[in-house]
Amino acid sequence: MIMSVSGFLSLASSCFSLLLLVEPHVARASSRGSTLAGGGVAPPAAAGICASSVTIHGYKCQEFDVITQDGYILNVQRIPEGRAGGSGGGGSTDKQPVLIQHGVLVDGMTWLLNPPQQDLPLILADNGFDVWIANTRGTRFSRRHTSLDPASPDFWNWSWDELVTFDLPAVFDFIHGQTGKKIDYVGHSLGTLIALASLSEGRLVDELRSAALLSPVAYLSHMTTALGVVAAKAFVGEITTLFGLAEFNPKGEPVANFLQALCANPGVDCYDLLAALTGKNCCLNVSTIDLFLENEPQSTSTKNMVHLAQTVRDGMLAKYNYGILNVMHYGDVRPPVYNLSNIPRDLPIFLSYGGRDALSDTWDVQRLLDSLNLHDVGKLTVQYVGDYAHADFIMGVNAKDIVYGQVLSFFKNQQ
Ligand SMILES: *[C@@H]1O[C@H](CO)[C@@H](O)[C@H](O)[C@H]1NC(C)=O
Ligand SMILES: *[C@@H]1O[C@H](CO)[C@@H](O)[C@H](O)[C@H]1NC(C)=O
Ligand SMILES: *[C@@H]1O[C@H](CO)[C@@H](O)[C@H](O)[C@H]1NC(C)=O
Repeated sequence: MIMSVSGFLSLASSCFSLLLLVEPHVARASSRGSTLAGGGVAPPAAAGICASSVTIHGYKCQEFDVITQDGYILNVQRIPEGRAGGSGGGGSTDKQPVLIQHGVLVDGMTWLLNPPQQDLPLILADNGFDVWIANTRGTRFSRRHTSLDPASPDFWNWSWDELVTFDLPAVFDFIHGQTGKKIDYVGHSLGTLIALASLSEGRLVDELRSAALLSPVAYLSHMTTALGVVAAKAFVGEITTLFGLAEFNPKGEPVANFLQALCANPGVDCYDLLAALTGKNCCLNVSTIDLFLENEPQSTSTKNMVHLAQTVRDGMLAKYNYGILNVMHYGDVRPPVYNLSNIPRDLPIFLSYGGRDALSDTWDVQRLLDSLNLHDVGKLTVQYVGDYAHADFIMGVNAKDIVYGQVLSFFKNQQ
């Protein structure tokens, strides 16, 4: 019944990433200036995403470190121009920056697993954009902190609230500081949630030109995956006793055991784990799935998984729920809600969702659209792709033609 352990885990991780797509944020108390650090070339290129997945295809690529206000050191890649070079229009200083943000349990490499002509970052670079790729705290190349050790539980004491409050604003500030330009944004899954939540708190607004949201996740209560539903229940109920509030490593044995237990639940079919978690993806390349399994799933914090599970359970976008300790944390018995009506109504938004996406269910997308119902009509573009599920938006062999072409013309229309 159960596939090989590594296949199982990789599928599981992609499922979870779908579940965990949404991230709220915490208010950023102090000035934005202090979020940046470095700007120098980070780790030896041989180890990083540039070397493994970008320069080998003939593109320039730079590695950067960005330090968040709470001390996490995030790895960021920049592809300043297309393969043909800067002939399209001077150096990268003239180009429009675009930031690409992955979802949960994966890292930035997830955008670079297809042949180069099908990969979103490289397509954007070839079309004249200055492309930046984010890597969320806790993932392979962002397991660093100015004082905390990833081996200590303190390093993992965060949920998507901190991605909203710290990670995304730090990366935005860094790119804005480097380019002096407003940024176009592409988010997938949790990458859409954290952006929406951040915007609802007034963050990013001054540095963002437009946003493309793929497989958007804000509400998760209609999630259709049986595995996802039991996983979410387990996370809320048991996870802290199982894992403690520390690292959630999808490649580790405790998580494997956890998943096997979930798959034994009636009605949960883990034979095709990826489908069980994300929906029936129509258009994945077998070679790409192999590469995906070699490179992903990536760690996140258990607290982030719990927060995502709370989002599924509670049917609303709110900060981490500490239960009886909410009063201590928030001065209220309930955690503060991220109010999406606060998103600027004139912000150009492109939203693309799939008919078979078990994580970003069409009901929940409709609820997101309802919450944007006061948005300027001309500023919201919606695309529905009937046979797409969650992973097709990042790795589908035809995503270039079906989705990325639309993203490209959306961004070009902002000029
Ligand atoms: C699938 O991936 C392999 C390896 O990257 C590539 O050679 C092949 O052309 C891809 N197939 C499709 C349909 O894109
Ligand atoms: C985790 O961080 C919160 C504040 O965000 C703090 O109240 C709590 O004590 C921390 N937990 C641990 C175990 O350090
Ligand atoms: C969200 O904000 C709008 C105004 O921007 C307000 O009318 C509405 O009551 C708020 N909703 C919640 C749940 O606070």
